[in-house]
Amino acid sequence: MNKPRIVVIGSLNMDIVVETSRFPRVGETLTGEHVHFIPGGKGANQAVAAARLGAQTTMIGSVGDDMFGQSLIQSLQKDGISTDHVKRITGTPTGIASIMLAESDNQIVVIPGANASCLPEHIQALEQIINEQDVVLVQLEIPLETATAACEIAKKLGKMVILNPAPARKLSASLLNSVDYITPNRLELATLTGIDASGDNLQTAMEALLGMGPRCVVTTLGEEGSAFLRKDDTLGKVPAYRVAVVDTTGAGDAYNGGLAYSLALGSGLTEAVAFACKVSALSVMKLGAQAGMPTKQDLEAFS
Ligand code: RIB
Repeated sequence: MNKPRIVVIGSLNMDIVVETSRFPRVGETLTGEHVHFIPGGKGANQAVAAARLGAQTTMIGSVGDDMFGQSLIQSLQKDGISTDHVKRITGTPTGIASIMLAESDNQIVVIPGANASCLPEHIQALEQIINEQDVVLVQLEIPLETATAACEIAKKLGKMVILNPAPARKLSASLLNSVDYITPNRLELATLTGIDASGDNLQTAMEALLGMGPRCVVTTLGEEGSAFLRKDDTLGKVPAYRVAVVDTTGAGDAYNGGLAYSLALGSGLTEAVAFACKVSALSVMKLGAQAGMPTKQDLEAFS
């Protein structure tokens, strides 16, 4: 069977992960336990998730001409991901995420670096590559004009477009009309729609987002699983798996990689959402975003 082809257009970061027993208070200096340098970035994480599941994966994005950039590219290549279209930007540092892990939670500050130099022209020059794909997966850690160009080009070419609107910002009608599946969490859903999406408001907010253009809204709900809504359909729900959590960094990325892979294989929406929930659950059982992405074998071994 041919492998599904997925192109990810998005960010690459080096995650500097500090483990500490609790978060410091403002102005406080704390002694932590460990520091790790782990490949990350929402785009690259989603590419790794899709590749480990078995997709033929291509990454489009930008890194700096420093050691971190080199190391991120090599790390993607180890997972068999094509990095031919990851640009190295001269004189610009690679994107960095400073991640603090404490109290079973995390705090993240991202410095975009070279991700900010991933420009629409770069995507426009790659129409041919995009045209060879089954699914185009985009996030918002690159400039909004670039994410917009990516979705519009993919739509024009008749590709399935999945937008993970993270980190969330208000999006244009033109972008939203180019998207088949949009995958916010509750907070991102609220930012996109201006509607509080907590509790029973979830369906109202999802209906509002659906009315803004995408063909389908899939909302990730953490421990509550996921909800999905298509036009002229009722709200669907899939529960989450109960697992021992080590690190939730990249759980949303695992989910998006899993969803893209399953949809690219031709699965129905309920099946694809259930598969994404499983991929995401497995990813939180290990430390690190890319380090924690499960393989197809991991999934098969997990009942
Ligand atoms: O989604 C998790 C990712 O967000 C991390 O890997 C970090 O790089 C930030 O981009």
